[in-house]
Amino acid sequence: MERKSTEGFGRCFLLACMLVFVLAASAATDNITPGRSIRDGEALVSSDETFELGFFSSPVNSTTRYLGIWYKVSPETVVWIANREAPLLDHFGVLNVTKEGSIILQDKKTDIIWSSNRTRTAENPVLQLLDSGNLIVKDGNDSGLANLLWQSFDYPCDTLLPGMKLGKSFITGTNWSLSSWKGLNDPAPGRFSALIDPEGFPQLVVRNGSAIFYRGGSWNGERFTGTPDLKQVESSNLFKFTFELNKNEVYYRGEPYPSLISRLVVNQSGFLRRLVRTKQSQSWIEIYFAPLDECDHYAVCGPYASCNINNCACLDGFEPKYPTEWDHSKWSGGCVRKTELACQNSVFTKYNGLKLPDTSNSSFDASMSLKECQEKCSKNCSCIAYANSDIRNGGSGCLLWFGDLIDMRIYPDGGQDLYVRMANSTLGYLVASKNSSKNKIVAIIVIAVILVGLILGGLIVYLRWKKLRKQVEGGKDDMELPVFDLSTIVKATDNFSDDNKLGQGGFGPVYKGTLPEGQDIAVKRLSKSSGQGLEEFKNEVGLIAKLQHRNLVRLLGCSIPGDEKMLIYEYMPNKSLDYFIFDQTKSELLDWRRRMHIIDGIARGLLYLHQDSRLRIIHRDLKASNVLLDSDMCPKISDFGMARTIWGDQTEANTNKIVGTYGYMPPEYAVDGLFSIKSDVFSFGVLVLEIVSGKKNRGFFHPEHSHNLVGHVRRKNKTDTSHKSPNS
Ligand SMILES: *[C@@H]1O[C@H](CO)[C@@H](O)[C@H](O)[C@H]1NC(C)=O
Ligand SMILES: *[C@@H]1O[C@H](CO)[C@@H](O)[C@H](O)[C@H]1NC(C)=O
Ligand SMILES: *[C@@H]1O[C@H](CO)[C@@H](O)[C@H](O)[C@H]1NC(C)=O
Ligand SMILES: *[C@@H]1O[C@H](CO)[C@@H](O)[C@H](O)[C@H]1NC(C)=O
Ligand SMILES: *[C@@H]1O[C@H](CO)[C@@H](O)[C@H](O)[C@H]1NC(C)=O
Ligand SMILES: *[C@@H]1O[C@H](CO)[C@@H](O)[C@H](O)[C@H]1NC(C)=O
Ligand SMILES: *[C@@H]1O[C@H](CO)[C@@H](O)[C@H](O)[C@H]1NC(C)=O
Ligand SMILES: *[C@@H]1O[C@H](CO)[C@@H](O)[C@H](O)[C@H]1NC(C)=O
Ligand SMILES: *[C@@H]1O[C@H](CO)[C@@H](O)[C@H](O)[C@H]1NC(C)=O
Ligand SMILES: *[C@@H]1O[C@H](CO)[C@@H](O)[C@H](O)[C@H]1NC(C)=O
Repeated sequence: MERKSTEGFGRCFLLACMLVFVLAASAATDNITPGRSIRDGEALVSSDETFELGFFSSPVNSTTRYLGIWYKVSPETVVWIANREAPLLDHFGVLNVTKEGSIILQDKKTDIIWSSNRTRTAENPVLQLLDSGNLIVKDGNDSGLANLLWQSFDYPCDTLLPGMKLGKSFITGTNWSLSSWKGLNDPAPGRFSALIDPEGFPQLVVRNGSAIFYRGGSWNGERFTGTPDLKQVESSNLFKFTFELNKNEVYYRGEPYPSLISRLVVNQSGFLRRLVRTKQSQSWIEIYFAPLDECDHYAVCGPYASCNINNCACLDGFEPKYPTEWDHSKWSGGCVRKTELACQNSVFTKYNGLKLPDTSNSSFDASMSLKECQEKCSKNCSCIAYANSDIRNGGSGCLLWFGDLIDMRIYPDGGQDLYVRMANSTLGYLVASKNSSKNKIVAIIVIAVILVGLILGGLIVYLRWKKLRKQVEGGKDDMELPVFDLSTIVKATDNFSDDNKLGQGGFGPVYKGTLPEGQDIAVKRLSKSSGQGLEEFKNEVGLIAKLQHRNLVRLLGCSIPGDEKMLIYEYMPNKSLDYFIFDQTKSELLDWRRRMHIIDGIARGLLYLHQDSRLRIIHRDLKASNVLLDSDMCPKISDFGMARTIWGDQTEANTNKIVGTYGYMPPEYAVDGLFSIKSDVFSFGVLVLEIVSGKKNRGFFHPEHSHNLVGHVRRKNKTDTSHKSPNS
């Protein structure tokens, strides 16, 4: 080399090349072999640069050093730590892989702080950080995992990455479980652990010490029975899960999704959180967490009772064990049978819409039908209840309970059926309650029949377009939306046939469609001339993509063929709320319980927007026509075209453009343009009055005065001490 490059230029060129080569090589290193080491200050980087392995301290205590793995785009997000219980107390830590294939971490005095164990001795050990975030030691330099000696995925900390198992191996006895950090700056294992408890029928639990804190429940083929919100997350096509139960192992595992970074964490307060981001986005988005509410706290209602909206109720045929305590909302004593069981003379009663009770004392048989399951249960006097173990394809498998039924809750959407053994002598009572449920079924069928073929007008919300386009093309979005092919949409909507047209919104027509997988969708085709809607469009896409809640309408994706812009939503078979409440005939289908359920759902959706979502959103246009109803009449707030986010604790903001709908706007907003979460609460109040009275606020007419509905209620409230309903 020296000989050839006599010219200065050539020498410099070669030097530069060598330098570049050295830099490139050191930057790209994802592995080391015996003889090479990683010192404090150096790092291993996975080949696609997603993960980095190195030394770090907590921001407040630089005396303690840990060896860990973090996201290169988010170095403060540590996903795995080797020496979480034994910090290094100096900055001279060294990581080596030994000739035998162990990893050792030494401090300045060459004391071994931490080491990995291996199953056998290696010949050519290589330590490598994979793109999945898995740190492995393999034997030989091939890329396969056949020669795996050790992997960090077998020793989870508080984070479950895609590809990592949560569960148990029955062969080696290995537990793959998560444990929370002990403190904000102390990564040692804390109080809370998340695991799949293999006792009985395996279920997901979060423990506080040895006590159950939260029970996600057993796997029902689609999800854990206590996580119906995951139904949305799963069907959003962003995540794929696996649950495997066989004689060798039981595990739950999230599968990697290209371009989306996703993690499941158990935090210091015992919350399981699912967070996502892309490499380009600035922050993490929490899309799911549990426990979600009071009802998610384990066994809050005691045995034989179910929780619903922070309240407990005994199952039909049961009564509170301690009535006085029960009346004071001390529910943990639970309920007892009104009539003692006589095994020889018992029947099974069906309860529906439930999170199935604790299965730690259950037995199961995946090959049985529901009928065989009932036979098996009725033959054994200690069998208290049964249910399908798998809800897919109409239900299959058999799950039997022996012992008390604990930790149930009501899910209006996504609950399961449970059959409970009851004394035959309570039959008279049950027949009565069955009649009322028969009426309910008739009502539901009537609704269904009436709605078949009805057009879904005024359903879809108006979104802004340009931002979406920029997001999808520039990859600069916070959360990528699935993009649908034009051909898929054309097929789904039968080439936008008139038969599938649901209605014509201000910004373009809306079509019903069915995806190849059978999922019904609503496709909004933004007309090219609809310049007016672009701002709103952009706003909504940005917001809605970040929001996931049962009571918010869900955007499934978009399609951008050429100049066309299309949005794909979940399909709402029951149109919107105004369609029901303001129509004399149809409003009869909404009994008080349904109305209550709808009000409750809207309130939950609104609470999520205002308080529970990270974005803190003011909707600004809440009204009956913006509340859509799904097939179970579960309400979903839609139309975020006018919504605004408010960051942090700021709960008020000013606007120079008044948007919204007269009749639902609070006076201070209509007059001063001051909006706050109270504006939505005002609209919600108007909406509640409308739901209860069946009358529109504007357009309300009373022979005695000229007030609108709100004014009428105020007037009534002042003059009428008997508090009659506004119908009077
Ligand atoms: C930092 O950690 C060390 C070792 O655990 C401890 O002795 C020290 O008090 C900590 N310092 C602070 C400021 O927390
Ligand atoms: C680890 O690596 C360092 C530096 O390469 C070396 O000095 C030390 O002896 C190694 N330790 C072992 C146990 O191989
Ligand atoms: C490795 O094995 C030793 C002795 O069997 C044990 O003390 C140590 O905790 C193990 N290390 C790990 C990381 O499991
Ligand atoms: C693997 O390692 C052996 C000995 O360490 C070496 O001879 C061989 O060339 C290596 N193969 C590859 C593909 O790097
Ligand atoms: C796995 O966890 C169970 C309790 O949940 C415990 O008894 C067992 O010892 C653990 N096994 C291992 C290998 O840590
Ligand atoms: C966890 O358990 C401890 C001790 O039993 C208790 O003091 C604490 O309140 C529990 N934490 C939660 C969040 O339930
Ligand atoms: C744990 O997560 C929950 C849900 O996101 C959050 O409310 C809580 O503040 C978190 N706790 C800590 C200590 O970060
Ligand atoms: C319930 O009791 C009635 C009358 O005592 C009896 O005819 C009937 O067979 C019983 N049903 C079952 C399922 O035991
Ligand atoms: C399961 O059985 C054990 C032993 O009988 C009992 O202590 C425990 O409370 C039972 N768990 C449930 C959820 O019924
Ligand atoms: C009933 O089921 C329990 C629990 O599986 C079992 O221990 C018991 O032997 C069964 N009894 C009969 C009569 O089959």
